[in-house]
Amino acid sequence: MMKETLEKIREEALKQIQESDALERLNEIRVAYLGKKGELTSVLKSMKDVAPEERPKVGQMVNDARAAIEEKLEEAKTALAAKMREEQLKREVIDVTLPAKKMNVGHSHPNSIALEEVERIFVGMGYEVVEGPEVEYDRYNFERLNIPKNHPARDEQDTFYINDTILLRSQTSPVQVRTMETRELPIRMIAPGRVFRSDEVDATHSPSFHQIEGLVIDKNITFADLKGTLAEFARELFGPETKVKFRPHHFPFTEPSAEVDVSCFKCGGKGCRFCKGSGWIEILGCGMVHPHVLEMSGIDPNEYSGFAFGVGLERIALLKYEIDDMRLLYENDTRFLKQF
Ligand code: DAH
Repeated sequence: MMKETLEKIREEALKQIQESDALERLNEIRVAYLGKKGELTSVLKSMKDVAPEERPKVGQMVNDARAAIEEKLEEAKTALAAKMREEQLKREVIDVTLPAKKMNVGHSHPNSIALEEVERIFVGMGYEVVEGPEVEYDRYNFERLNIPKNHPARDEQDTFYINDTILLRSQTSPVQVRTMETRELPIRMIAPGRVFRSDEVDATHSPSFHQIEGLVIDKNITFADLKGTLAEFARELFGPETKVKFRPHHFPFTEPSAEVDVSCFKCGGKGCRFCKGSGWIEILGCGMVHPHVLEMSGIDPNEYSGFAFGVGLERIALLKYEIDDMRLLYENDTRFLKQF
C-alpha cells in the first residue's frame, strides 16, 4: 500500500520533470515533492501508521524516491541550462565585419597652435625660447622694470598678491630681468607664458591669459633692428603683404616705446568690420630697453643696447582664426575646439 503510493509519487514526479521546459517549473516540482509540505514529506509524516518492523524498509523507499527525483531534477536542470545557453549564443552572433568604433583623437588648442607659429618664426631668426615663474617677486614684475611702488602703471596691471613682495605676474616682462641677470650677452630670446590680472571676464578680458615676451640685447642694437624684426614677424604671421605701423606710446621699461599695428589682413587696409573700419589692427607693444632697466640688471648702457616687445597670445589666436570672443578659448567645448 505504502509502496504503491511511493511508486506513484515517484513516477508522477519524474514525468513532470521530463515534461518541464523552464527552470522555474523545475523549482516548483522540487517544492511540490521534496519541500516541507511536499508529497514525499507527508509520506514520512504518516510513518506512524506503518508497522514498526516495516518502518526501516519504508524509510529506505522514501529515501530512494527522493534520491531518484533529485537526480532527475539535477539532470533536467543541466540540460535546460545548456539548451538556453545555446539559444542565447545563436541570438547574439557578433558580426566581426562591422566597422570598429571611431577613437576620439584630440589636437592642439588654438592658443597652442598660435604659440607654435610664433615660436617657429622667432626660432627661425635665432631666438631662444625661455620661461619664467608665474608666481613672481614684485621686484621683478615691477621695480626692476622701472615701475617703483606708487607708479601709476601699477593701476593698469592690478594682480593677485601672495604677500607684500610676491604676486602672480601681471606680464611676462619680468623674464627680461631674469634673463639679463643670468644669461651671457648677447641675448636673443622669447618668453611665452601665463600672466594674471584682476580683470572681470568678458569678450576681450580674462583674469588669466598669455603673453609672449621678446628681448634682444647686443652691441649697436637700434630701433631699426626692432622695426625690421617686427615687420618680418608680422609678414610671417599674417602674410607677405602685411604692413606695420609704429605708434608712439609709453611703457616704463622702454624708451622710446611704441605700439604696433598691422594692416588688416581681411581687407588689406581699406577698412572693414574686422578692423573696425580703420584698416589697422593693434598687435603688440615694444620699445628700446630703457638704460635704467639695463643698469639695474648690471648691463652697461654705454656698451650695450636692446629692444623688447610683448605680444598677447590670445589676441593673435583670435585674429588668426577670426574668433570674436576670448571666452571661447577657455571653455574647452570640443565642438568649438574641433574647428582648428
Ligand atoms: N608688458 C607689457 C604689457 O603687459 C607689454 C610690453 C610692452 C612688453 C612693451 C614689452 C614692451 O617688452 O617692450 O602691457
